Amino acid sequence: MEIVIPTLLSLTLLLGTVVAQSTAAPSKDGQAPKQAKALTPSFAFLQTPPKGMPAMPLPKDYAPTEAMFALGQRLFHDGILSKNQKVTCASCHLAANGFAHPDKRPPGVDGKRALRHAPSLFNRGYGTLQRWDGSSASIEEFVLEPIEDPNEMGLKLTDAIARLRANASYNKAFSDTFDSEPNREALRRSLATFVRGIVTGNAPYDRFLLGKVGEMTAQQRHGQWIFESKGACWKCHTPPLFTDEGFHNTGIGVLDGKPEPGRMAATKSPADAGKWKTPTLRSVRMTAPYMHDGSLATLEDVVAFYVRGGNANANLDRKVQKLDLSKDDQEALIAFLRSL
Ligand code: HEC
Ligand code: HEC
Repeated sequence: MEIVIPTLLSLTLLLGTVVAQSTAAPSKDGQAPKQAKALTPSFAFLQTPPKGMPAMPLPKDYAPTEAMFALGQRLFHDGILSKNQKVTCASCHLAANGFAHPDKRPPGVDGKRALRHAPSLFNRGYGTLQRWDGSSASIEEFVLEPIEDPNEMGLKLTDAIARLRANASYNKAFSDTFDSEPNREALRRSLATFVRGIVTGNAPYDRFLLGKVGEMTAQQRHGQWIFESKGACWKCHTPPLFTDEGFHNTGIGVLDGKPEPGRMAATKSPADAGKWKTPTLRSVRMTAPYMHDGSLATLEDVVAFYVRGGNANANLDRKVQKLDLSKDDQEALIAFLRSL
């Protein structure tokens, strides 16, 4: 008896230590992982991008102005564009969540929910096709669509414009900005200009590349190496935007071996079945849950998904293969993602 009790006790203590170690993990070099700090949207990014980011492509048919950005920012946060006056662009694209939403499918008007996970809006100005399936040809084409979407803002565009025209303060703002009363084109340009200003960059990763070696921990540098070598992540999440703006089938949303239409809904080509737009990985630590259906809750789940080679289906992208990554490799990869 005298022996059994201390043995059990020490066993419990030992187990306790193991658990504590595995949750406390992750850094072997004793350094806390460096995390990217999301930047506040700004018109200035349209002219001077933050460190690490390329020049912002601008629309061909008009020159965005700071006044358009300010008006778009106000509209983005105003319920006036939704049926019940409560749903705003910002209620689904929350700054604190990297302009994504913590629910798999964010709530719209009338107790409805959007059909997909709200993607991060960071750096969308660098991409042309919008939506997870790329069915919208540009930011300008897209930004009015959530207003009429019955699951999102549920308001006819003509009604939205009538409301703005009936509002003295908006009338003045549109007149100052566009020299016109509120109309479709002005609404489009304001919202699009604000969305273009939602940019992030100047992350530990960018500063590391500019020579500040201490900005990434040894573990994060190991993660970067995995990302660029045996993880093959860079092939689709191509730096510096960490997206190729292309469409790929990783098997998310596959049911009984059959993919959802995905990109095929826009192109009608069966080869595009189950393909979805590669999302940026910038500020990805903030934008959980992940994937077009929000089906993966954490970055740990995402990495485990890629390690097992995605979800099998006839259209699985050949770049998605089972990965031979140790537990250390996986933890390092996650620490790297947090540095973006
Ligand atoms: C009810 C929630 C909801 C509201 C309100 C909402 N969005 Fe979204 N947003 C989404 C979802 C969901 C998607 C993905 C749609 C898809 O892929 O079909 C999306 C996609 C986008 C995209 C494309 C991003 C990409 O990566 O392709 C932009 C830009 C955007 N929203 C801007 C806005 C603006 C501007 C407003 C306000 C006028 C707005 N959203 C209102 C949920 C919402
Ligand atoms: C064949 C191209 C491809 C490769 C290779 C690839 N990805 Fe992806 N990734 C995608 C696509 C496409 C999606 C969106 C899938 C969806 O929503 O159904 C995605 C989604 C993600 C997301 C979710 C982001 C979000 O905002 O929801 C993360 C995180 C991610 N990938 C990380 C990685 C990592 C880490 C690797 C390497 C181990 C990797 N990816 C390899 C194409 C790829």
